[in-house]
Amino acid sequence: MITSKKILVCVTGGIAVYKAVALVSKLTQAGAEVKVMMTPSAMEFVTPLSFQAMSRNDVYYDTFDEKNSQVIAHIDLADWADLVLVAPATANTIAKLANGIADNMVTTTLLATKADVWIAPAMNVHMYDHPAVKRNIEQLSKDGYSFIEPSEGFLACGYVGKGRLEEPEKIVQLVETHFSPKELPLKGKKVVVTAGPTREKLDPVRFLTNFSSGKMGYAMAEAASKLGAETILISGPVAIKAPQNVKLVNVESTEDMFLAVLNHFETASIVVKTAAVADYKAKEIHPQKMKKKEGEVTIALEKTTDILSELGKRKTSQILVGFAAETNDVVHYAKGKLKKKNADYIIANDVTEEGSGFGTETNAVTLVGKNDIDIHFPQTSKKELALQLFRMIIELEKDETL
Ligand code: CTP
Repeated sequence: MITSKKILVCVTGGIAVYKAVALVSKLTQAGAEVKVMMTPSAMEFVTPLSFQAMSRNDVYYDTFDEKNSQVIAHIDLADWADLVLVAPATANTIAKLANGIADNMVTTTLLATKADVWIAPAMNVHMYDHPAVKRNIEQLSKDGYSFIEPSEGFLACGYVGKGRLEEPEKIVQLVETHFSPKELPLKGKKVVVTAGPTREKLDPVRFLTNFSSGKMGYAMAEAASKLGAETILISGPVAIKAPQNVKLVNVESTEDMFLAVLNHFETASIVVKTAAVADYKAKEIHPQKMKKKEGEVTIALEKTTDILSELGKRKTSQILVGFAAETNDVVHYAKGKLKKKNADYIIANDVTEEGSGFGTETNAVTLVGKNDIDIHFPQTSKKELALQLFRMIIELEKDETL
């Protein structure tokens, strides 16, 4: 899987340099083309010759030693790499990179490359725990760098703790997964996901709504996009950030949501109605702020449009997926909704279960579908659950429209 992938291994100065020799050897054996760059301190531990033998390539360590007059080596290597591994990465190199310092060939090349850079720290456990190191790692994570966390165990300094360079076999495995072809079963398909609550105005300053956080819907949108779909996320007001690569359409009322869904319905392959839509709206929205009065107040409510039912009436080849929050007889009620709304699947969750439902990071659900299907998905993160649900629906639909 990594045959002919170009990997630049930047070796910085710590005792774990000896493990970087094994890493380079294993990457080369796996078929990658590997070039090695060293900092001056790395060369105090192991000479470039070891890396040259393992990579079967020249080793680079001097910014001013230009071996080929046709190119500038650090820029050439920065452009050449498909992936840059900084292994081991010392606290010093991490600090320099976090601050944009380019004072040796490794740090200069790291600033020049557009390739993905993975940093594998290795240091004493207290150094790894130091607030400055933590701050620098956090900064680099924000800047888009990935980290291969050090493992725990005996450290060369005598301590036992977190700080060992991750094992070369494990790093090679991560590299292989990174380059393996991604499974994109929804490529070329359009998926519409609704999420969050809707808001129904009572007057210019008040509205009816519910506790939906939008987390499950946003996870569904992220999963659809990860599986290759063009994803439209139609969202009521929530406090979370939209996933990358999805088209976000913000709405407030049920009516807005209905119109936004209809805009995309005809060309959609799958519509997932995760939103906790308000079932009722005020019969009349007061144009001015309602003033306090003596005694009781009654607000007349009327039903909102049931978006899922309306889509159920209009659907042609679209796969319609609804959600249902239940407190008892989950499968029974979900089957009722499936039929009543002419949906293909209802994802039902028991909101009385701990770790399920509104606002939580996790969820456990039952997928109820046509042909009397009911499949339980045990509690896991909403993001993971969303992927499992899409994969299951794709599997169940593989002989039909998908
Ligand atoms: N739904 C909708 N439009 C509405 C109400 C609900 O599209 N006006 C959708 C939701 O997005 C969800 C499913 O229908 O996919 C939920 O069904 P619903 O019957 O509204 O569930 P509950 O509100 O839980 O119903 P009940 O109170 O009857 O149990």
